[in-house]
Amino acid sequence: MAYRWKNDLKESQVTDQSLWLNRRQLIAGAGAGLGLAGIAQTAQAEALEPNSWDDVTNYNNYYEFGTGKEDPAANAHTLVTSPWTVKIDGLVDTPGDYALEDILSKMTIEERLYRFRCVEAWSMVVPWNGFELADLLEMAGVLSSAKYVAFETANRPDEMPGVRYPVLDWPYVEGLRLDEAMHPLTIMATGIYGKDIPNQNGAPMRLVVPWKYGFKSIKSIVRITLTEDEPPTSWNKANAREYGFYSNVNPEVSHPRWSQASERVIGSGLFATRQDTLMMNGYADEVGGLYAGMDLKAFF
Ligand code: MTE
Repeated sequence: MAYRWKNDLKESQVTDQSLWLNRRQLIAGAGAGLGLAGIAQTAQAEALEPNSWDDVTNYNNYYEFGTGKEDPAANAHTLVTSPWTVKIDGLVDTPGDYALEDILSKMTIEERLYRFRCVEAWSMVVPWNGFELADLLEMAGVLSSAKYVAFETANRPDEMPGVRYPVLDWPYVEGLRLDEAMHPLTIMATGIYGKDIPNQNGAPMRLVVPWKYGFKSIKSIVRITLTEDEPPTSWNKANAREYGFYSNVNPEVSHPRWSQASERVIGSGLFATRQDTLMMNGYADEVGGLYAGMDLKAFF
């Protein structure tokens, strides 16, 4: 591939690992309207906690392990992530089951480090390890009729207690337009902070699309299908008014229930700095061209 994206973010800008692990507590504390007292409490609780992986008191979303923010960290250990196979099918030259081990061994490039900004109501800089999704798709050979890429998460009731409840239409699915999927900023992440991704964050392989909101980042992917039509996405199916197909970070388009114009910077201290959210999360120079001529209020 001719163009390879270069990290412009420095090691020193990376969000501290302990803050990353505990971010949801910081967010929950502030979001629940606890105000300064709440923030001070969480900060104090954190000061007492060692920054180890065993101590993942992580608050995050992975509904296959429950809808509570603490559920993924408590339940995700039951997911068997090795061996792991991803089915690549649909409009490709060589459909089939690809073992993750083989994929990694055949990557033409070493797995790389990607420092990406990410944003929801908060923002961080997270160091991922992984490879470009384009390299994986090229391995299977994309047919010229393909226009979209559909992704599917594992659906294993024995290993994922959350899928026993119909809170979402299982399996969790996501999608990208083919040009978005082939962009060098779109990666399959297998590691984070220099280690394997913990189960609750999408082991052994998850999508990261840094100019889109976090919920586009589908976890523990078992199937990738090249399609001609726009594929369904889980959050859009659950609530089409609130979640569109594109999900590009866009400060000009408010979510129906909250503004998306600013973000709290995790790790900026007790009085967390608010900053204006940038179009496409600051990646507009790289990816803005993909949406030239589109009305991004209609295609949110
Ligand atoms: N993928 C699956 N399979 N199931 C999920 O519930 N939640 C999404 C996304 N990917 C989700 C998922 C949402 S809502 C968010 S905010 C991010 O994962 C959270 O990812 P994180 O672990 O990096 O915070």
